[in-house]
Amino acid sequence: MVYRKRMVVEEIKTLILGADGMLGHDLQKVFPDAVSRGRDPDITDEVLVSTFIQELNPNLVINAAAYTDVDGCEDNRETAFRVNGKALEYIAKACSNVGAVLVHYSTDYIFDGSKEEYVESDQPCPINAYGESKLLGEKNIMENMSDYRIIRTSWLFGVHGKNFVETMMRLSGEMDMVRVVNDQFGKPTYTADLARKTAEIVGLSPGIYHITNDGVCSWYEFAAAIIDNVAPCLSEEFAVRAKRPRYSVLVNTKTTPMRHWKDALGEYLKIKEMRR
Ligand SMILES: NC(=O)c1ccc[n+]([C@@H]2O[C@H](COP(=O)([O-])OP(=O)(O)OC[C@H]3O[C@@H](n4cnc5c(N)ncnc54)[C@H](OP(=O)(O)O)[C@@H]3O)[C@@H](O)[C@H]2O)c1
Repeated sequence: MVYRKRMVVEEIKTLILGADGMLGHDLQKVFPDAVSRGRDPDITDEVLVSTFIQELNPNLVINAAAYTDVDGCEDNRETAFRVNGKALEYIAKACSNVGAVLVHYSTDYIFDGSKEEYVESDQPCPINAYGESKLLGEKNIMENMSDYRIIRTSWLFGVHGKNFVETMMRLSGEMDMVRVVNDQFGKPTYTADLARKTAEIVGLSPGIYHITNDGVCSWYEFAAAIIDNVAPCLSEEFAVRAKRPRYSVLVNTKTTPMRHWKDALGEYLKIKEMRR
């Protein structure tokens, strides 16, 4: 683990919040000495969060905790804003008090999809509650501390969580033909790659980073790389509660690209096959 400022003189004490989530599991592998499992405070409890961070006194906090159900956020706006928004004020203030770097994950859904590609400096304009709540989280970090890395990412799949790849494989066995939208475009991202890249970003300057696997596709194209019995359809044909941006393609202008999502998917499918 490389960390610019204090690594040379003292060991890094890392705290992972949300370590039991899909990305959190892969973060535990990349940061094996991190404090995590079984000791997570509820991040919406200000006293608990600040006491926990104060007592642990970490120099790196990685927050992978979030309310990630995009449609659920429409129905439970208050929870979404507490977990994805307000809690980041508590975490940022606590990190600032102990002088810890904060790495936090945000989303492509803070953009409205009216442009085909988004760089880090583009103006956010979310069109659903999840995106609004995650944008509030970003704002709360930036207003309450300076040594942060906000990593915006998209379309996560990882071996330790429910995700699109698993859903496609399940539906493929249940249906003759699976219909998947072919008019929403983004960048699938493998959580193992994102976790490894996080270690690199800790050593870079504070700021916002767009980190995804390389390559753009529609959900249908993503599905077609996983299963054979899939047909394209339009978003209008599916009634979902949250609006999704047409294009949510994040462009990374600050660091080296990660491998293509198809290569990452190949690794994911091999791991899953071995576990069967
Ligand atoms: N999944 C995606 O496609 C995607 C895309 C873009 C960005 N992101 C961002 O990437 C990050 C990781 O996503 P993920 O898919 O790995 O998430 P995930 O699998 O849903 O894991 C989130 C974790 O946060 C925990 N959590 C929820 N509320 C909490 C609270 N109040 N206090 C403490 N922990 C709490 C959850 O615990 P419980 O399960 O017990 O609730 C879960 O372990 C998130 O910031 C997400 O917004 C995800």
